[in-house]
Amino acid sequence: MCGIVGYIGKNEAEPILLDGLRRLEYRGYDSAGISVINGKKIETVKAVGKIAELEEKLSKKDVKGNIGIAHTRWATHGKPCEKNSHPHSDCKGDIFLVHNGIIENYQELKDDLKKLGHKFKSETDSEVVAHLIEDLMKKYDFKTAVAKTLKMLKGTYGFAIVSKSEPEKLIIARNGSPLLLGIGKDEYVVASDASAIIRHTKRVVYLEDGEMAVLEKDGYEISSMHEKIIKNREESEIDWSIEEAEKQGFDHFMIKEIFEQPQAVTDAVRGRINVSDGNAKLGGLRDVSKELREIERIIIVSCGTSYYAGLVGEYMIEEYAGIPVEVEYASEFRYRKPIIDSKTAVIAISQSGETADTLAAIREAKNKGALTLGIVNAVGSTIARETDAGVYNHAGPEIGVASTKAFTSQLSILVLFALFLGRQRNMSLVTGQRIAKELEKLPKLIEEVLKQNDDIKKIMKKYSKYRDFLYLGRKYNMPIAYEGALKIKEISYVHAEGYPSGEMKHGPIALIDENFPVVVLAPKDSVYEKTISGIEEVKARGGKILAIGTKGDKNIAKISDDVIYVPKTLEMLSPIVNVVPLQLLSYYAGTLKGIDVDKPRNLAKSVTVE
Ligand code: M6R
Repeated sequence: MCGIVGYIGKNEAEPILLDGLRRLEYRGYDSAGISVINGKKIETVKAVGKIAELEEKLSKKDVKGNIGIAHTRWATHGKPCEKNSHPHSDCKGDIFLVHNGIIENYQELKDDLKKLGHKFKSETDSEVVAHLIEDLMKKYDFKTAVAKTLKMLKGTYGFAIVSKSEPEKLIIARNGSPLLLGIGKDEYVVASDASAIIRHTKRVVYLEDGEMAVLEKDGYEISSMHEKIIKNREESEIDWSIEEAEKQGFDHFMIKEIFEQPQAVTDAVRGRINVSDGNAKLGGLRDVSKELREIERIIIVSCGTSYYAGLVGEYMIEEYAGIPVEVEYASEFRYRKPIIDSKTAVIAISQSGETADTLAAIREAKNKGALTLGIVNAVGSTIARETDAGVYNHAGPEIGVASTKAFTSQLSILVLFALFLGRQRNMSLVTGQRIAKELEKLPKLIEEVLKQNDDIKKIMKKYSKYRDFLYLGRKYNMPIAYEGALKIKEISYVHAEGYPSGEMKHGPIALIDENFPVVVLAPKDSVYEKTISGIEEVKARGGKILAIGTKGDKNIAKISDDVIYVPKTLEMLSPIVNVVPLQLLSYYAGTLKGIDVDKPRNLAKSVTVE
């Protein structure tokens, strides 16, 4: 999704803005632009395509100045082209702004502005805002004009705005789109994402919805859009380093992050398991521990890969804590009429903590009186701040668009949730101890799978000629079949469907032939025999089988064309191990086709619009 960077300080703005844009590339974009203000002069450069195109154009100009704004655009209103890319300006070219989000009432505002004689250059919703400010600046100063403009907008936004009339100021504002203010030494770096700030400072202030801030070289002031000054806003510290956001010798972030999973799982459970008590210690849930004892129902809301983590969580929590769980796509939950009461806990799972649908779902749940909890990776993100309580993943930054380490980390935390809720209820000490002990062993088991990286690449080479795949799994591994199919789709653009194994005979079996390979999750678990029957059904129709089997299972090799063996663990934990070979298969499916797997087409890392 779109990315914002802004700079004000003692240094030249252009290289800092460009570096920031590069660090936001992973979010997905189709064009980029930059405006630097120098006294009464504003230089704006835009380019369609990669940041390199913008850089090329900038290299032919001498852009000087210590204040600037920049943007990567992911088209919503109007096709990707130069005139639609940001920064946008008013009629006279006095005001320049970059915007993330969607202005829902832009058409009516635009119609009114046109009647007043305003001339528009783009098809975007964002440009309207520059003209509104222009109009209000006939009467008010820059800050007041921005505040009054914000009150007229419906929708979501993160803004960074500069004006020639008050060239020493950078104004930022947010409502539903993330925006952080990085506080450096004699400088401020603003961004929609911490990765564009971390190189300069770890000290940040998170703007709240409905707030704006006026930045000058020697200080900043936060106020509400109702022009009420907000004093003593607390600063936070970004808890990861620049090195963690770099590739460190790997070809792509995706493969680096796949290989970071033993560490991510270790970090998710570190200090949170008590083996002798057979319990989980979740500091983030301490304040709501009494309410959690009394809840009678859980709804998990999330999107994409995080949704599949929720599906695994449902099985874990129902089996081990005995609490009914429903898992909902956040985008559906927010628009239907979910039945919620004070005995319902709604858990949002989100890597970024900024997914618009998940955030809206959690707000809706809160409104209806539910206890809201978050399982979030990005510290200080909106979902983390708006939920009543929660548990951070501590997986470090996930830069590749495909979620990998965040997923296994989410699953590990869901195990802790099941343990904690289960031990509050009927789970025995012995069961709790067994789960806790096995959970601690997981990083080693994931390492064993990663050692097969080269073999998995060879297997994928054999399968790379196919255009369609079916992924099958049962019980705890059904969501892993969904996740495997999603991963290969997004990274290699091949068609794949994830299905519960038992459902194959109700429809998808019609697709099976020698050109439609089936990836089957076939661990030695309580549904192993059923899975084997499914494999036989595929074989009987000439289908190819690539199985993910349990180490030592000779039978599976006899009935499959290829097998990737993974070590045995508890059934409830098996998804955390089984998903790893599927991630590697997807990675190689994409890279063997020469796809930039970190930034696959059309996708955004953090989906901050509906
Ligand atoms: O940041 P979130 O976990 O809320 O993101 C949810 C989905 O957008 C995300 O998992 C998406 O499906 C990934 N591209 C999957 O790899």
